[in-house]
Formats: sequence, C-alpha cells, structure tokens
Amino acid sequence: MSRVSTDAPAAARRLVVLKVGGTSVADVAGWPGLGRLLEARRDHELLQPLLVCSALAGVTDLLARLPDAALEGAPSAGEAAGGGATEAVEILDALGALHHRWVDAALSGGDAEAGGGSSLLQLPPAVDEELAVLARIAEGVALVGEVSPRLRARVLAAGERMSTHLVVAWLQRAGIGAVWVDARGLLPAETPPTATPERRYLSATVSATADPDARRRLDEQVASATDVVVTQGFVARDEDGDTVVLGRGGSDTSASLLAARLGAVRVEIWTDVPGMFSANPHAVPQARLLRQLDYAEAQEIASTGAKVLHPACLLPVRLAQIPLEIRCTHRPDWPHTTICDGGAVSPGVKAVSMRSGMVLVSMETVGMWQEVGFLARAFGVFAGLGLSIDLVATSETSVTVSLDPRANVVDGDQLALLQTRLSAFCEARVLPGVASVSLVGRHIRSILHRLAGVFELFEEQRIHLVSQAASDLNLTVVVDEEQAPRLVSQLHARLFGELEIGEAMGPTWAALTAPASPEVPSGEPAGPESATPSSRGARAPWWVDRRGELLSLVASQGSPLYAMSRGRIEEAARGLGALHSVEHVLFAMKANPDPAVLQVAVEAGLGLECVSPGELALARAALGPTGGPLLFTPNFAPIDDYVAGFAHGARVTLDNVHPLASHPEVFAGREVFLRIDPGRGAGHHKHVRTAGAVSKFGIPQAQLGAVAQLCGAHQVRVVGLHSHVGSGVRDPEAWPRVARVLAAAARAHFPDVKVLDLGGGLGVPEKRGHEPMDLAALDAALAAFHAESPGFAVWLEPGRFVVSEAGVLLTRVTQLKDKGPHHRYVGVDAGMHTLIRPALYGAWHEIHNLSRWDQPGPWIEADVVGPICESGDVLGHGRRLVEPAEGDVLLVATAGAYGAAMSSDYNSRPRAPQLLID
Ligand code: LLP
Repeated sequence: MSRVSTDAPAAARRLVVLKVGGTSVADVAGWPGLGRLLEARRDHELLQPLLVCSALAGVTDLLARLPDAALEGAPSAGEAAGGGATEAVEILDALGALHHRWVDAALSGGDAEAGGGSSLLQLPPAVDEELAVLARIAEGVALVGEVSPRLRARVLAAGERMSTHLVVAWLQRAGIGAVWVDARGLLPAETPPTATPERRYLSATVSATADPDARRRLDEQVASATDVVVTQGFVARDEDGDTVVLGRGGSDTSASLLAARLGAVRVEIWTDVPGMFSANPHAVPQARLLRQLDYAEAQEIASTGAKVLHPACLLPVRLAQIPLEIRCTHRPDWPHTTICDGGAVSPGVKAVSMRSGMVLVSMETVGMWQEVGFLARAFGVFAGLGLSIDLVATSETSVTVSLDPRANVVDGDQLALLQTRLSAFCEARVLPGVASVSLVGRHIRSILHRLAGVFELFEEQRIHLVSQAASDLNLTVVVDEEQAPRLVSQLHARLFGELEIGEAMGPTWAALTAPASPEVPSGEPAGPESATPSSRGARAPWWVDRRGELLSLVASQGSPLYAMSRGRIEEAARGLGALHSVEHVLFAMKANPDPAVLQVAVEAGLGLECVSPGELALARAALGPTGGPLLFTPNFAPIDDYVAGFAHGARVTLDNVHPLASHPEVFAGREVFLRIDPGRGAGHHKHVRTAGAVSKFGIPQAQLGAVAQLCGAHQVRVVGLHSHVGSGVRDPEAWPRVARVLAAAARAHFPDVKVLDLGGGLGVPEKRGHEPMDLAALDAALAAFHAESPGFAVWLEPGRFVVSEAGVLLTRVTQLKDKGPHHRYVGVDAGMHTLIRPALYGAWHEIHNLSRWDQPGPWIEADVVGPICESGDVLGHGRRLVEPAEGDVLLVATAGAYGAAMSSDYNSRPRAPQLLID
C-alpha cells in the first residue's frame, strides 16, 4: 500500500469521520478493504481520516456482565474472599481469548495483504494492560461486594479501548500511519444537575457545539496529517475526569458528535447494509435503498424502527449540517444513503417501518369529560415511574398511549405498578405484545388522498391506536404484534408498487443481493427473489435441481399445471413424525385432497383429518377400511354429515351443542371429541383465524358445563378435546397454550378425555429470509406441557406444513403490457381461479421465470396477472423476473397447500390439473 509523501501540517487537512461497528471491527478479513478506504480518503480526497471503532462484536455484552458476575462471587459473611468467582473468571478468559483470536486471525492470513507477514503482529501491550485492569476491578468488586455505575462505565469503556489498540497495530503493520487517540479527551460529557448516577455514567450526554480547542488538542497528538486517527466510540469523560459511556448504540453518536465538535466534512457509517431502506430489507426483499434523505426523515425512520442507525446520532450532524453517509463494509461499490438537508423535499412515503414489543396503556374515565388536569395527572404517573411515553391518542373519555421498550424498562413488575397507580383515578388497561407500523415521509397529511387504496389493508387488522405525528412526518398504527410483519409487507407492496418512484429511490435489496452468476452458489438458487428456503440454513427448494423435468412436464402436459413432489411431502411427514411429544399427526386433507397426495401422506404414517362427506369418502379410500386415525371435524354441517362420519368409522368432533340437543339419537352411546373455542385466534389473515367470539368455530368455554350434562344425559362419552385456532402460525408456544386450556376443560368437565387435538396451523416460510417453523422448539414446548399435565395424548392436524412447499404452480406467459415505467404487467395462463390465495388473503408466493433461470438478465419488475376479468386477478405485485417472452414458463412456489384445493372454474376456465412426481 502506498503512502503520500507530502506531509502537510495536521491542521491543514479537514477531517472525515468513519465509524466501523463491532462486527466489522471483529472481521479481520475485512480490514484490507477498510485499509484501502482509509487510504482513498487520505490520498485521493486529501482528508484526514478519523476512525471511530466499536468494541469487537460480543465484547460489550461480556463487559456488561462482568461486574455482576464478580458480585456473585463476592464472599458472604464468614466466607473467604474470591470463592466461587468462576463466572467472572470465565468472562475475563473469554475477553482475552477474543482479542488473542483476532491477532491470530490477522497473522494467519485473514489479512494476507497487510504487510506480507514480515513484521509479526502481537497483542498490543495496552490490550494486555487493559485486561489486567479488568481482572483487578473484578477482584475489587468481589472483595467489596458492591459496584457503582461509575465502575460499570469504566469496565464498559474497556472494549473500545482494546479494539482501537488492535486496529492501530493492524494499520501500522499494513504501512498506514495510524495514531491511537483517547476519545475521552475529545468528548467532554455534561452532567445535568438532576441526572441519576446511572444516567450520568451510563447514558451520558455530550454537547454537539463546535470545539476549536478540541481540534487543536487533537492536532497536537497527531504528528502527521496523513496519519489515521483511531479513537473509541461510546466513550467520553465527565467534568470530574471520570470515564462515562453514551448508552448502547452510542458509537454512531460518538462519530457524529466528533464530526460536529471537530468540524468534519462528513460522517461515514460503515455497516452490513448500504443504507436505509423503504422497509427492513431482511423482511421485505423488495425494499428499496433510500439514496437521499433529509435529517428529519432519517431521524423519523430510525425512531420508528429502522435499526441501521441509532436515532440519537442524527442531531449533532443536523445541527452542524454535516452530511452523513451509510455504506456497506463488504460492498463499498454499492450505492448508499446520504443524509443531508438542501435537496428538493418531495412529499411522499419514504418508508414503512415497524417496532415490535411495544406496550399499550389505555386509561378510561367518564370523569375525564372536560375535566381539567386529567392528562397531567395520568402522565405524572408515567413520569414518576421513569417511563417515557411514545404515541398518544385521546378522546373525551379516554387516552391511550404506547411505551417503547427501547426507551423504557417495561417488565411485568413495572407494568403492574403502573396499572395500580393509574387505577386510583381511571380504568387502566395494559396490553403488551403490540407493534407499531409507521408510514414515514415528508408532509404525510398532504398525500393522504394518495393513500386511499393503502387504507383498505387496515380492514383486516385490529387497530389499537392511530397517531399522526405533529411533525407531519409519520402516520402510525398500532396492531397485534403477530400481524405487523405481514402488514408491513402488504403496505410496502401497495405503496411502492403504485406510487411514483422518484430519484431518491435506489435499487431493491433483492436486486442488490441477487447473485450475478446464474449458477447456484452453495445450494442457493439464482434469481432476485431467490427461491424460498425450505429448511434452516436456506437450502434450495427441491425444484431448483429439477427445473428441466418441470419444463418438460409443461411441454408434454400443457399449462397451467400443479406439480407435487412426493419426496418433499415425505420429508415434511418425517419431520412431524419425529415429534416426541405428539402421539398422532393427522394430515388436514382440505389443504390438498388429491388421492395421490393422500396416499403419500398415509404411507408416510400420517392419519387424516376431514371436514365433509366428500372428504370422508376420500379419506377412507386412502386409509383402507380400518386404517386411521381419522378425525371428522365438521362445522355448521347438516345432521346427516355426522351420521356419515360415524358410518365411516371416524372420530367425530362436535363444535356446537345444537346437533346434540336436536338430534341426540345420532350421538347417544357414542364416543365424541368436542371442539372448544379457547378464546383467541391466530393466523396469517383474519379469514383463517378460527377462535374467539367473532369466529363461528368451537364451543365457548362458558357452555362446557351444560354440554357435559347433556352428554351425560345421552351416554355420550367425551374422549377427546379439540381446538384449531388458526392457520399460518409460527410461535411454537401457540400449541401448548391451547393444550393448557383444553387440559383445564378436561379436568373441570370431562374425566374420560384421553386425547387433546391441538389443531393444525403450522406455518411455512413463504419468502426468502423467512425462518421455517422450529419443530424442535414446538416439541420442547409440548414436552413442558406434558410435564405439568401428564395423562393426555397430544394430536396435531397440520395441512399446510405437509404439502405447501412440495407444490409448485407452473404457468405460461401469455402477454406482456407496459403502462409506463412503473406499471408493467406479465400475463400468465393461471389466474385467481387457479390460485386464489394472493387475491383472497394478500398471500405471497415467490415467482420465478423458470425458462430463463440460467439467464443473468435483464430483469424487469412487473405485476404477474391472470386471465380472469377482475382487477384482483394478480398472482404477485411488483415482482422481479428475468424479462419473459410469450410462452416462458413461470414457477409459483409454495403452492401445494390450498392451491389446487381452492381452485375453481370461474369465467368457465378449467381448473389446473395436479401431478405427483417422484
Ligand atoms: N384443522 C382444522 C380444523 C382446520 O380448519 C384447518 C384449516 C387445519 C386443521 C389445517 O390448518 P393448516 O395446518 O393447513 O394451517 N385457505 C387458507 C387456509 C385455511 C385453513 C382452514 N383450516 C390458506 O390458503 O391459507
């Protein structure tokens, strides 16, 4: 690496601040690239780089635990000092190991470009000293038996002190002049008179006012203007000379404070994504890079959920009008986000963001009607508990607020205390587990009319609160947490599929991360919406390797066509069969009642769950005359259906008292299951949530006593209890939660119950980046239930999980249409009559151009639409596809469940056939 020879005096150069986070600092392999960046700033832009580093990834967490671990090792009365301080010792060992490993990696070629190994890189003595200081502090804490916030701050600061010494050693060895500067001399903290010790030492504040003296002090420490200044993020010093820290996420803030105080030309935050996106790119691959934001917008996006930047870091650069860039460490060539004022401000939604884990508190009182001071009193309670309020909505008689766990300690005790104090003067309800979803952008009030279509999406949501920011920068709704990710995806698709996309919008995350080569590296398929992972570790779906066969199938059989993989069904069944806590798994055949599929399921050891006489007949045929288990779960069915159920030798489930009360003769002397409504539904869409008073399913718990009496009167034995709360559920705790309700009902009313059928509903990954259902966690959660309530056998009846990923819909391109740059359409011969899930539930199915799978491009973005005469006939909005031509075959993924099963001949177009392939 080259160095410039012209050593101008240090003060002659302007500073550029680069901040590198803990993961990037820890990644030795990335340092040659970072070294080149620093050289480019120095040699090409003639700037002096000031590098702000976080601690190596994992170090701050260890340091945060160290004082408490040392305290636990403190001797109790009469015990010798130091006994049992093993956790503290382990932490100290781990800290030593992390830093030693970094040096080892640097030596063993992780940085092969740096210095060619000529001079050995060793653990800098300063790091050794810092580790020794930590060990002495831990001993002291164990001896004294107490730890102050002041000491915690000193311990926490050690992480950055050590990482920066490593970085300086690396840079010097690579021939890049570098000097270690103590951040405490550059960032003086100010202690407000009312600050608690925690606030003072662990969440310190530093003024962003320019400090020419600090610049002078810095220049005195830096001999050459071409030296890279390396300093610590997160760390500052107070008026008494004590070390303080800025609070978690504080390294971003350090960088921006240093820039403001030292008068830098810009701040560059180097991280693992190239900027802010129009939604979280890991959840919404179609999220677009926001190339240009003003400070207020960026601040709002960060505050409403984007994690890439700490919201607090924007104020200093905003006051000093210093541009801030967010850039990707691994891909410095990618476009990036620049945050500065002065660009044209266009009204419009820039991002859809989300914060989960929020808590809602509603306070209701009739006394509030025109009452003076109610709000002040209520808010006083929050202030008294140190809780900072986030969103607020008020009416004459109620006020609802939200609490953000990122800004508050909102544990159960704290919330209980809050509720008790509020209850003194109003009816207070606390609702944890909600999420806020925000549309963020300038002048949002002026574009409400353009959002009309978007509001339709709220029809399906339980909205707890709506708030429009006084700053006119966001519109936020609070919904149940489980609904939020889907709502974000849907809102994003609507907003960015239909609104004009301006200059400020960059490429989508999917496009940025699309493999350039058509070949599939390490099992990952090519394609920008890359194929859905079908198990942990993002394994390529089964059809990637069999695309040639699928194309021949369409050539010989025509299109549209469903293809089902036998092997993939068997694999899903094997996974379910391995659940130790489940006695029987029954395939909910409504998901795919094709006889060939039923045969595979039965041969793979699954029983069947069915809901109609038609399904009963198909099930019996698949199981054979005596095979099972077979469960019949009708709902609002005619009485003859129940007769048919018994006749087919099925277990029959009653989900209402009416059939038993009106036709006791059908049930008298028989064994039945009862479907109970546990009170709360779950699932991917309101149409598939099947519990709670608004749903037609299940016997309400309040009626169980009466049902038990009626059963007794007719010698009907209740041997099983059943519940299916909804479809597309991923939380493994959902099933044991239901089991506990059923077990309690059995204990209270039905002593003969042996089986608890917890329904189906197991979700599958639908999009790249979605985690598959964690079966091991489900098994463990059910094992915990068995341990507390022994004596019940558990059954499950999944449909989707068994067949969804096994099925693909193959369809041919019929026509292309262009209605302007953002409104392109790819027509296919499958439509909502073939696959209704997108139209009915807004469901997402990945779509790929199978005919051009191996082609690198060009890519287009288009709505994939069918031939049905309705505007809702869309299989996917705004999809990226290798530009298709008429006749190309597109593959629609995860279509094995509720695809062919729900198809119709609407518009008198025939249903697509389904073929099982080996
Ligand atoms: N058991 C009962 C009583 C059910 O009603 C259902 C589905 C299942 C089991 C199976 O649920 P699964 O494991 O497949 O989630 N058409 C919708 C799904 C409707 C589910 C209806 N009941 C969709 O395409 O998402």
